[in-house]
Amino acid sequence: MLDFGNINIYVFDSAEEIGVKAAMLLSETIKENHKSNVCFATGGSPVGMYKELIKLYNEKAVDFSGIRAFNLDEYYPIQKSNSQSYDYFMKDNLFNHINIDFNNQFIPNGETKDVDKECKDYDKLIEENGGIDFQILGIGTNGHIGFNEPSKSFKANTHLVELAESTINANSRFFDSMEEVPKYGITMGIKSIMMSKRIILIAYGENKAEAIYKAFFEDVTPEMPASILQFHRNVTVLLDKGAAKLVEEKFKARNK
Ligand code: PGA
Repeated sequence: MLDFGNINIYVFDSAEEIGVKAAMLLSETIKENHKSNVCFATGGSPVGMYKELIKLYNEKAVDFSGIRAFNLDEYYPIQKSNSQSYDYFMKDNLFNHINIDFNNQFIPNGETKDVDKECKDYDKLIEENGGIDFQILGIGTNGHIGFNEPSKSFKANTHLVELAESTINANSRFFDSMEEVPKYGITMGIKSIMMSKRIILIAYGENKAEAIYKAFFEDVTPEMPASILQFHRNVTVLLDKGAAKLVEEKFKARNK
């Protein structure tokens, strides 16, 4: 582990190992508090973690029945039944395979006609439930967390966002054509993320190395949204060697 005070960085040989560690951290949290509020993330980064959580569940090593499951973001507009919706992704990759109570599964509604109300209601729901205990994050190559894209200011609350071109390009790998990629998303804001008790950020691949380095070792700025995590008390960053490339160089230089 590379220890940078409030930020602990673990470097692994493979994405599988990251998944094992991340799943272990979440299952420990759930064992301590059966009713934990967990905020899940979509994308490639947490898939290994979700596979491992299913394995732990099948081994009866973890019980999800008491948790409240939130999600960071959702495309807008999108039907839940669309296989590219994040609601579908979560069910397909995790929730349909474990024993969460679907009455306690919450995600911004990409089908809503009233986005403002949806955003306000989502913040209220998180707040009324006491905030997030365990927040899972990926990171975009542009430094976004959730769909909090680089911008002139940090947006505190859940909001509608126009997706950055790099996000649309990155996400187009899941769609048949570029035109089908939604251009907007509803995302939890920086406030709920920063108020969560514990944050786990997962990244692998050399294409994430620069974002990771800038997020944790350069200025805190809304142009690099993940950099705000430098101000959080309890962040664990799980990387493979590719994503850790620049960070490891920094660590070696510091300890010379
Ligand atoms: P990825 O996306 O896990 O698919 O790389 C992460 C993100 O864009 O936040």
